[in-house]
Parts: sequence; structure tokens; C-alpha cells
Amino acid sequence: MTRLLVTGGAGFIGSNFTRRAVGQGHDVVVLDKLTYAGNKENLRDLLDAKNIRFVKGDVCDQGLVADLAAQADAVVHFAAETHVDRSILEAGNFVQTDVVGTFSVLEGCRKTNVDRVIQISTDEVYGEAEGNPCREDAPLMPKSPYAASKAGADRLAYSYFATYGLPVVISRCTNNYGPYQHPEKLIPLFVTNALEDKPLPVYGTGKNTRDWIHVDDHCAALDLLLEAKGVEGEVFNIGASEEYSVNEIGTAILNTLGKPKTLLKSVADRPGHVRRHAVETKKIRSKLGWKPSRSFTQGLTETMQWYREHEAWWKPIKAGSYRDYHSAQHHGAD
Ligand code: NAD
Ligand code: TYD
Repeated sequence: MTRLLVTGGAGFIGSNFTRRAVGQGHDVVVLDKLTYAGNKENLRDLLDAKNIRFVKGDVCDQGLVADLAAQADAVVHFAAETHVDRSILEAGNFVQTDVVGTFSVLEGCRKTNVDRVIQISTDEVYGEAEGNPCREDAPLMPKSPYAASKAGADRLAYSYFATYGLPVVISRCTNNYGPYQHPEKLIPLFVTNALEDKPLPVYGTGKNTRDWIHVDDHCAALDLLLEAKGVEGEVFNIGASEEYSVNEIGTAILNTLGKPKTLLKSVADRPGHVRRHAVETKKIRSKLGWKPSRSFTQGLTETMQWYREHEAWWKPIKAGSYRDYHSAQHHGAD
């Protein structure tokens, strides 16, 4: 049993990770600011358990982070602003939470004896994947304010290992999908719009590809990163090598849900839109014995079913402040 501090544990990946960690018997403290993306409903089934405590707060609050880190064996730092489109509309929040917030977490941890800090970075730090999927030593060429802020945080975390010996491990995972993902992100947006017979907005040509992984497979990899010996300061790519375009995903969703292809609607492209993200995952597979457990076809089918069965979770989100963002993003179109 480990005492874990999980920042951003009320978000998509953080809540899936927390559910798993609580089930494994770890003592978990979730620190989350509950921004528009954080939702206590994501943890609703867990909050009565004896081994979880929820703290509402900001990772930029160094004193708070230091107090919580002092009571933890390991810190998993998920908290971030995460949506590329929002970073184009308003980059300042990304620099603040993703860079300054990570600085605060690292400083808080430096003053304690934590055995491990996992910096949840992203494959977006590499920018365009040209040719072979990006290895861990590929140059960092982030293209959006989100990706650039995460790249800053990623290297700041490394610097705390190199300079102070803080036992940091950095993960760079590809695009996740699964339960509790905010419906502004591609897969839940397309699934919920299709269920509501609304158009699926395809940016530009729809030929842009991402490498898709089920959130459970990502969390299983993080479990290994928490335990692995002798990997401090290292970077691990995580990905399932399942590359699909937006058009392919939209078509698969409409086919499965029995909706017409006419719902796919081409809209203005995203500025700086990355054509392809893809990572090589030989390192985590060979060094830690990790591999994904689901195919994309299986995971997408399960995920569609989850959103079908959890309208009570996503309908209020789509009806709330998200509508203002959606209206700004799509210039008032539905
Ligand atoms: P999310 O947007 O669903 O959740 C982010 C969480 O962080 C929310 O609960 C939010 O309330 C919280 N938060 C935001 N600002 C905060 C602050 N200042 N203090 C405390 N809490 C704050 O994001 P996600 O998709 O679950 O991503 C989690 C992490 O994984 C992020 O670091 C992201 O960069 C990384 N990541 C995500 C993906 C993906 O496909 N979703 C892929 C690779 C890496
Ligand atoms: P997204 O879920 O925002 O993740 P990221 O940009 O971090 O990879 O988008 C995934 C892909 O889907 C990306 O190529 C942009 C595209 N996209 C659309 O075509 N339409 C949409 O409404 C959204 C949200 C994304």
C-alpha cells in the first residue's frame, strides 16, 4: 500500500487512475481545483471509501501542495489545462496551470521525501510525427500553446531530477479515450452528438491522425512507472499504435450507432493543427513488460456503450457553461 497524492484526480484520466488506485487499496488524496473540466461526479462511487480524501485546491498553491506531498509516498501529477482548442482561444491559463502549477508541485515535492513523482506529460510535446513514430529522444517541437506548456513542464520536471535528485519519471502518452472524458474532446463529442442527432464537426480535411489508447491501458502503464526501479529522470512513451483519422473515427461511430454519414460536417480547420501524433513504445514494452490490453475497435465499442448508458453524466455537462465555449468555438453553430 502506498500513500498517493493525485493532482487533477477529478478529471478524465485522473479519475480513472484514482478509481483503480482506491480499488488496489492505496491511500489516495485527490487535489483538484474543479475547473470546468473537473467533476466530482467522476469520483462519486469512490468518495465514501475509507482510503480516499478529496481536497479542493489549486496546484499553484505551493504551501498546500507541500503539506499534501509531505504526507505522500508518491505524487502523480495530472492536473493541467488540457484542451488544444481552448489553448488557442486563451493560452494564459495553460502557462499558469501547466507550467507554473508543475513548478509548484516540483517545489512542494523537493521539500519532502517522496519516493516518486510522475510527471504526466503528453506525446503532443513532439509536434508532428514525420515518418517513424517519435522515440523518447526525438526533438520537442510542440505546435499549440497547450503542447508548448506541457513541454515546459516536462523539461522542468527533468531539471528537478538532474539538479536536485528529485525521483521524477516522465510519461508521454498518446490520445486517451474511455469513460468520464469531457464531451469537448473528439470521441465523446462525436459519440454524444451522434446520440443527439447533431452534426459531428470535422476540422479541415478530417485526415489528421492520432494514436488512440484506452484510458485503462494508460493507467496500467502508470502503475508500472510508480514501481519501476532505477528509472528516475527517464521518459517513457505510452501508446497502443492504433492510428486513426478523424474521418475514420466519425464513420465508425455513426455506423455503430446506426446514424447517417451526412452528420459528418466539415468545419474550419484548427490553427496549427498537427497532422499526425504517433510514438514508438518499444521502451516501456521491453523494459517494463507493458502492453495494451484492448484493440481500438473493442475499446471504442465499449466506450460508445458507456456514453449510451451514462446520459445523466454527460447531458448536464453539455448543457452547462460548456455551451458558451462551444458557441465561441463554432461561431454559434450547433
Ligand atoms: P482533464 O481536463 O479531463 O482533467 C484535468 C483535471 O485537472 C481537472 O479535474 C481539473 O479540474 C484539474 N485542474 C486543472 N487546473 C488545476 C489546478 N490549477 N489545480 C488543481 N487542479 C486543476 O484532463 P485529462 O484528459 O484527464 O488529462 C490529465 C493529464 O494527462 C494532463 O496533464 C494531460 O496533459 C495529460 N494527457 C492527457 C491525454 C489525453 O488524451 N487526455 C494524453 C496524454 C497526456
Ligand atoms: P482532441 O480530442 O482535441 O485531441 P488533440 O487535439 O489533443 O489530439 O482532437 C483529436 C483530433 O480530432 C484532432 O486532430 C482535432 C480533431 N477534432 C475535430 O476534427 N473536431 C472536433 O470537434 C474536435 C474536438 C477535434
